[in-house]
Amino acid sequence: MDPLLIDWAGLILRWLHVITGIAWIGSSFYFIFLDASLRARKTMPEGVVGDSWQVHGGGFYQMQKFAVAPPEMPKELHWFKYEAYFTWITGFLLLALLYYLGADLFLIDPAVMDIDPNLAVLIGIASLAGGWVIYDRLCKSPLGHNQAALSLAGFVLLIAATWGYTQVFSGRGAFVHAGALIGTIMVGNVFFIIIPNQKKIVADLLAGRAPDPTLGKAGKQRSVHNNYLTLPVIFVMVSTHYPMTFDSRWNWLILASVVIVGAVVRHFYNLKHAGKGEQYWLLPVAGAFMLVAIGLSLPPRSKVALEDIPQVSFAEVRRIIDVRCAVCHSATPSFEGFDKPPAGVVFDTLREIELSTQRIRAQTVNTRAMPLGNITEMTDAERQTLADWLARGAPLQ
Ligand code: HEC
Repeated sequence: MDPLLIDWAGLILRWLHVITGIAWIGSSFYFIFLDASLRARKTMPEGVVGDSWQVHGGGFYQMQKFAVAPPEMPKELHWFKYEAYFTWITGFLLLALLYYLGADLFLIDPAVMDIDPNLAVLIGIASLAGGWVIYDRLCKSPLGHNQAALSLAGFVLLIAATWGYTQVFSGRGAFVHAGALIGTIMVGNVFFIIIPNQKKIVADLLAGRAPDPTLGKAGKQRSVHNNYLTLPVIFVMVSTHYPMTFDSRWNWLILASVVIVGAVVRHFYNLKHAGKGEQYWLLPVAGAFMLVAIGLSLPPRSKVALEDIPQVSFAEVRRIIDVRCAVCHSATPSFEGFDKPPAGVVFDTLREIELSTQRIRAQTVNTRAMPLGNITEMTDAERQTLADWLARGAPLQ
């Protein structure tokens, strides 16, 4: 397909993915807040456990929550589920378009594992399905009765899966799969547990039967998990544009730290909304884990003294960039599938290289994010040459 059309397909899918994601997470945040803001009052209609007065857009609203359900089902009942489903569908299509059709460039790094693209795609898809099944079993096991133990087990499994991904895929491919796994679990919770259970409860009520309380409990458990996963999943998804996260040595530990940051910040807000006070001590805890993530991303310090670093001629640097980078990063890229320089980065002239030295460092020396999928087979010796050149202040002669 024409690269221009692929880019448009990617952009439109990304647009839809972000919109549906905002709608989903927005309504999820709203209901968590609503639940926490409910207050019991002296006089309340039958079956109501609490209400919350709110003002928005010039109107006043009184939201009420029923302990189980209203005595009579209303004719019109609004469900919140399509936001979640479409976030997953658009996300999966985007994953397929960028990472599966472009597996050579985005999913695979031969330095990590020289794997057949079809097999890599198969592993990716199977891991998402398998990850859901394992998580679901875990929630339904006896461990599911112990919230703290279940959370810990879920966290350990998620980080183990992330580590596993970093052993098979490129750093970027590993991160996007960790994000997709979290997203799949969250949508699976909505699709397989929360909504079906809610439907059974509604059916029971309509038939005049008392609904099974375990249905509501299971739904609540999953929606709490989703709540704590919202902030981490967004970080993981946007971090695929930042190689210091996905492409550094401790990428999987960075992800683990950020999952903790996101969960702790959510916890702060959950307590605050529930009227349990503002537990400000949680914020420095989150900050500390953020610093851990940043620390883990720092490239190792070079112990070589400046005068011991070999002199590198710019002609040699230019040759490496021409052969390994400029096939894509040129005003007229020769690499198949590119009709414009990716990310607008061009290395045609001396001036363009000079302007990009820090970005070259970030992408090829501090991390191995470029060349993409090492498709142009840059050698370690060449990376070292660039590192030496940069360490000597990137002279242009
Ligand atoms: C196969 C094509 C290809 C090759 C070869 C390649 N790149 Fe890239 N480069 C890309 C793509 C695609 C992007 C955009 C990635 C994204 O959207 O995250 C990119 C992005 C970049 C960026 C911008 C990243 C940012 O977000 O700031 C820099 C800098 C860069 N490449 C440097 C290099 C260097 C240096 C080399 C050679 C060592 C190289 N690239 C080789 C395809 C390539």
